[in-house]
Amino acid sequence: MTVLSPRPDLWSLDPDVLHLNHGSYGAVPRRTQELLAALRAETEANPMLWFRSVAERLTTSRLELAAYLNTDPAGFALVPNASAGITAALATLPIRPGRRIVLTNHAYGAVRFAAERFARASQAEVVIVDLPLEADDETVVAVISAELDERASVLVVDQISSETATVLPIAQLVEVCKARGIPTVVDGAHAPALIDSPAADGADFWTGNFHKWPASPRATAGLVVAEKWRRETLPLIVSWSEHDERLPERFDMQGTYDYAPWIAAPESLRVLDELNWPVRRAQLSALIDEGAKVVAKALGTCVAEVAHPAATMRLVELPFRGERNPAAGAAFKVRASKELKAEITLTSFDDRVFVRLSAHAYNSRRDYELLAERLPALF
Ligand SMILES: Cc1ncc(COP(=O)(O)O)c(C=O)c1O
Repeated sequence: MTVLSPRPDLWSLDPDVLHLNHGSYGAVPRRTQELLAALRAETEANPMLWFRSVAERLTTSRLELAAYLNTDPAGFALVPNASAGITAALATLPIRPGRRIVLTNHAYGAVRFAAERFARASQAEVVIVDLPLEADDETVVAVISAELDERASVLVVDQISSETATVLPIAQLVEVCKARGIPTVVDGAHAPALIDSPAADGADFWTGNFHKWPASPRATAGLVVAEKWRRETLPLIVSWSEHDERLPERFDMQGTYDYAPWIAAPESLRVLDELNWPVRRAQLSALIDEGAKVVAKALGTCVAEVAHPAATMRLVELPFRGERNPAAGAAFKVRASKELKAEITLTSFDDRVFVRLSAHAYNSRRDYELLAERLPALF
């Protein structure tokens, strides 16, 4: 197995805990935490001075984050999270009565709720396209395309799904939608740092989190808007920049708000850069491949064979099947945390249940070996 140096000097994570779920809430390197603390100290030293300086600092940060995504800064706005990005996108698109918002069965639950809210408001309906867990790109494109008729107002699709940790063929799907005149909203919550230039495929809207894989402070995400929608896309909070014609600036000022995470966010990109992230990510892919197998072997199960697994996440099947039961899932995670000192998350697909394992720069082989030793005790 790949030998990696987990660099505990860079992270403040509790060394007595197995941190195997970066995918949910990320983890912020010490250096970024220190910058964040310094920015907050500066705020408290002189709040007036701080708020006068925010606009300029946000511009600097935003340009750096847009450059990281390799996207046009004029179409890149800061939002607190991918949920906000999806909501702002759906609020912009014309969804007429009787029309459809098309999603897949891999979609994130809260994104489905957002689609349902906008469908209700417009007397439209949500259509869920069923993609098999192990579907290849050709199947994904064919099955989704079959639902994209004149009733479709928008396709909302994951770039990397949460429940199934799968990379979907966004470029092809965007192409199909463009040809049929159907707008696309790409949920790239997990994409930054896992996919290079994730917003490059010409979707109408793309959103992604910096507070997941790029390890930026929480409440930092981006919304990339195609040129044709930039004038009418509005932030969720109505504030003083409401009438600013420029999209990024319109989203910058959200009233009295904690802007420090957005300003500190690029520091984590520099930490990843110093870790030689593209090489490190390839090493982490090898690590999670092997680590997931070690855990699956201990459980007597297997690693889900999705067509394109996310670079640093894998699904290990649990040794039972059943209906989706969020309360039982939450209780299981609490037991893993308390009894095994392991932070893991569960996902499900059809009647199959999985542990979704992550690998980030602080993980090593030992983490997965220890989980493999401990996890069978919970069954
Ligand atoms: C695929 C997907 N979409 C959207 C979200 C929502 O992200 P946030 O909680 O940052 O709004 C998540 C969070 O895990 C996700 O995995």
